[in-house]
Amino acid sequence: MALFSPLSLRGVTFPNRIAVSPMSQYAAKDGYASDYHFAHLARFALGGAGLVLTEATAVEERGRRTPGDLGLWQDGQIDGLARIAGFVASEGAVPGIQLGHAGRKASERRPWHGQTPLNEEDAALRDEAPWPAIAPTSEPYGEGWPVPRAMEIGDIEDVRASFRAAAARAREAGFRVIEVYAAHGFLLHQFYSPACNTRSDAYGGDFEGRIRLLLEVASDIRSEWPDDLPLLFRISAVDWVEGGWELDDTIALARALKQAGVDMVVCSSGAIGGTATPIRMPVAAGFQAPFAQAVRREADLASMAVGFIWDPHFADALVSDGRTDMVALARELLNNPNWPLHAAQALGVDDDYGRWKPQFGWWLNKRERLIKKLGLRGGD
Ligand SMILES: Cc1cc2nc3c(=O)[nH]c(=O)nc-3n(C[C@H](O)[C@H](O)[C@H](O)COP(=O)(O)O)c2cc1C
Repeated sequence: MALFSPLSLRGVTFPNRIAVSPMSQYAAKDGYASDYHFAHLARFALGGAGLVLTEATAVEERGRRTPGDLGLWQDGQIDGLARIAGFVASEGAVPGIQLGHAGRKASERRPWHGQTPLNEEDAALRDEAPWPAIAPTSEPYGEGWPVPRAMEIGDIEDVRASFRAAAARAREAGFRVIEVYAAHGFLLHQFYSPACNTRSDAYGGDFEGRIRLLLEVASDIRSEWPDDLPLLFRISAVDWVEGGWELDDTIALARALKQAGVDMVVCSSGAIGGTATPIRMPVAAGFQAPFAQAVRREADLASMAVGFIWDPHFADALVSDGRTDMVALARELLNNPNWPLHAAQALGVDDDYGRWKPQFGWWLNKRERLIKKLGLRGGD
């Protein structure tokens, strides 16, 4: 079964093609990982995923989306993450970290506090005061959002240095994959999308100008990140707005990223915000997978499909048909952290709980045999 075949990128071999898609928990204090983050990610390693990616981890304090985001902008933040990476690796999964910067989407309330900009109320209620954001231009994310400060060259240099320093810390923490968060309307997406970037300097204007910062960040990280470890970029393959970023742009970007040392592109889509007219997203099972397929085929670069994937047979077909190299799941893994282990059973590659840790599998196999012997299936 293709879903359970290993995949090698540089010196790293993923034991299967299932990745845990980054899922922000908004549970960090001052960017520090806690026992909560350990438990959240540890269960996916126990559940059989091949790649366990952390949530978006901010490379600068002002680049957090919410006050609860994880961060890696200072050395003290390494230890908590190192504990997670160490455990994930000890369970046979590959530990990866998603590094990002929110740009104009910084200083936001958690989803359950409204997913709207922080204001003085949050400062009074939870000691979570708003902070100023930076972006390619001073256009806000949406109506009612604060006006970001348009970045000067010095700010761009600071952001580049922060990605580079965070990559060095990620290496020290023991991660074996970096995924750069360049999707969903966050800073790097704000740069490449024509629906947001109206700069007239070397970091704006035409396609080359708008992707410049991404290529620089890729090369900067490559200079810190060992040659035998893979570097991934997560992008919004289309903006779903009129006059926005399109799939052809994604293919051209993927080719350029490949030249800059990137090994895989993760194809999500949407969320650029701003004032452009939205185009309806055709949400359906695997609706973003054609983007991963196009990158793989047209840019000759490994790709990962994500979004509305939960059926093991469908996930397997995406890989076996050559539409993608890996699949990433988010919400289905919240529903069932053991999804990879159950998928192996559904696909017939594990009929005796042999893929489970013996601490679980020995008992479950024994129980299953007893259920069969006594004809107890059905709960009677
Ligand atoms: C709770 C939650 C938090 C998320 N946080 C992030 C994040 O930090 N970084 C990211 O790239 N995507 C994030 N996403 C998006 C997911 O990684 C994924 O792309 C999306 O949920 C679609 O996949 P699904 O249909 O399997 O859930 C988040 C999704 C959820 C449900």
